[in-house]
Amino acid sequence: MFHRTARTTLLTIFCLIFQASLLMAHGDTRPMKKGILLVAFGTSIPEAEKSFKNIDTKVKAAFPGVPVRWAYTSKIIRHKLARENKIIDSPSEALAKMMDEDFTHVAVQSLHTIPGKEYNALRTTAKAFEGLPKGMRSIIVGAPLLYSPQDVKKAVKIIAAQFPRERKPDEAIVLMGHGTEHPGNIYYPALQYYFGQMDPNIFVGTVEGSPTLDDVLTGLKKKGITKAYLIPLMSVAGDHARNDMAGDEDDSWKSILTKAGITCVPVLKGTAEYDAVADLWLDHLQTAMAHF
Ligand code: CO
Repeated sequence: MFHRTARTTLLTIFCLIFQASLLMAHGDTRPMKKGILLVAFGTSIPEAEKSFKNIDTKVKAAFPGVPVRWAYTSKIIRHKLARENKIIDSPSEALAKMMDEDFTHVAVQSLHTIPGKEYNALRTTAKAFEGLPKGMRSIIVGAPLLYSPQDVKKAVKIIAAQFPRERKPDEAIVLMGHGTEHPGNIYYPALQYYFGQMDPNIFVGTVEGSPTLDDVLTGLKKKGITKAYLIPLMSVAGDHARNDMAGDEDDSWKSILTKAGITCVPVLKGTAEYDAVADLWLDHLQTAMAHF
């Protein structure tokens, strides 16, 4: 009795799978066409685009023959660029175009740092495009720079290897992350934990989340630090790095720390400009492409 039920169940499952594969094959005889969509928050600062060019070059070298498209998730930046006649697609615009061009398999690679608001919205958008009539058969979204616990540990080692060589052990590294009110902000305290384990003179702060600059300043004072390298923990050295971090305004990190008696050396280089860091995003894209 048991055996017969098991056999019937198995048979039913086989029939269902067979029917499903027939359905999928039915009406979609298009040959497989793979594509890559790289999605960043975006930047309106031309010098900061270096980061994206670096990623673009690496991706094209890693996947020769696979068309690569770009989109920015920030509407403010896209609109600002549009006023300068520079048209950059939103993720949904880019996916709609790829759908029209008969791409069947698209890897959407998030170039964000953490899985926050931008990344989660991107996933929702990508999901909505999957399975549309005459749409893509499969859309996979690659993880941002930091996703798994292993990503965080790996990224910490790789980012630390890029710090200025001339830095002395009693000089601090102050990293400026973006930060968010999204639960994904937790990656910044996590980074502080791992960086701190590696070197107690490395501090992580954020513009819009926690840890704050106040937290960083408290730590610097406790250690009696008199010199700090300010480094963006963002893919691009854009507006936040140039103004909020290294700007001459009274409320920039440089001004506030200088006033507290700390000599500041800003480093205007986004994380995606470092090949070793860019490779971490590339690893996530490899994982996404491996699904096809
Ligand atoms: Co911002």
